Amino acid sequence: MKGIILHGGHGTRLRPLTHTGPKQLLPIANKPMSQYCLEALKEAGITDIAIIVGGLGATKVQEYYGSGERFGVKISYIQQDQPRGISHAVRLCKDFVGDQKFVVILGDNIIKEHISEYARNFQQSDADASILLCEVSNPTAFGIAEVKDGQIIKIMEKPENPRSNLAVTGIYFLTPTIFDIIDRLKPSWRNELEITDALQMILDEKYKITYYMVTDYWKDTGTPNDILHANKVILESIEPYFHGIKELNVTITGKVMVGENTIIKSNSKIIGPVIIGKNCVIHPETRIGPNTSIGDNSKISKCDIENSIIMPNCNIETNIKIRDSIIAFNSEIISNPKNNDNKIFLLGEGTKISL
Ligand code: DAU
Repeated sequence: MKGIILHGGHGTRLRPLTHTGPKQLLPIANKPMSQYCLEALKEAGITDIAIIVGGLGATKVQEYYGSGERFGVKISYIQQDQPRGISHAVRLCKDFVGDQKFVVILGDNIIKEHISEYARNFQQSDADASILLCEVSNPTAFGIAEVKDGQIIKIMEKPENPRSNLAVTGIYFLTPTIFDIIDRLKPSWRNELEITDALQMILDEKYKITYYMVTDYWKDTGTPNDILHANKVILESIEPYFHGIKELNVTITGKVMVGENTIIKSNSKIIGPVIIGKNCVIHPETRIGPNTSIGDNSKISKCDIENSIIMPNCNIETNIKIRDSIIAFNSEIISNPKNNDNKIFLLGEGTKISL
């Protein structure tokens, strides 16, 4: 079985975080979100993987994953000129897939449970497609499946009046049958070749489609709040470790992961779940956590950070409370005593600040 990870798209809902790179490389618990997809495939024994890349982010994706050797998999890259839809991206993989069964994972979907059993069942079954469904509270935001007597009877993309709350998650088990179907698809109202339309056509043409219910955590990380939520849930499941250096009077409670060469200076407080990467300096009187990730090479001083993601190479040196925030790579927040109440900003397009 082969694997495909979708790493294209514009990531507009996550601007400004996505002005300089693809959303799927944004870190959750200090790891790019698409790496969770790659690890899920590898865990299921699927090591021949194509990554669909497009636009600005393509080079960054290739730089990070390379040949795949570092991750124990083999990666091929397939370019998509524009985000013309999930089905369009899948169709680009026809030669890569050949006559094998395959699984497609959307690079912004986080699933906690293993997919190995689903993959094994699909490999042994005579189904033409199999999808994972998950109950959601906001069904207008997803592809939705209607199920009757254990059979899927209808699949619709983001219906205005959903007839169920069963979201079609971004993990699709498929066979090459899908390619002929995609060739006959028409673009949707959002001008995309929808995967849900292809799945509906599978139903209409009496091919066999099965489903499983995801009962553990699944998240489409479409918005900043989704990312923070996924960060919290993933942090809760990591085994604690401490590879750094701790000075006197440091308080550490709960699950805390600290990387090599990170120094936690005296009188700081770390309240898990928290991950702090490598080569960080946490200065005295700092409070971090819970539900917080600090990327490699960051310096944090005096502040109080909760439920937030600070990406690598940041410098935060100010006596403020930071809550529910995502601070991207190489950012700096510093106090300037000379400025009294004046604030100085150098902000990128689309930045959000709540003072
Ligand atoms: O997350 C599950 C949902 O994903 C499903 O319930 C929907 O049926 C499905 O259409 C999709 O909905 P979204 O609106 O969330 O899709 P989005 O445009 O965000 O794209 C999903 C991922 O696929 C994202 O990582 C970007 C990538 N992508 C998307 C398109 C349209 C590509 O690589 N190429 C594309 O052309």
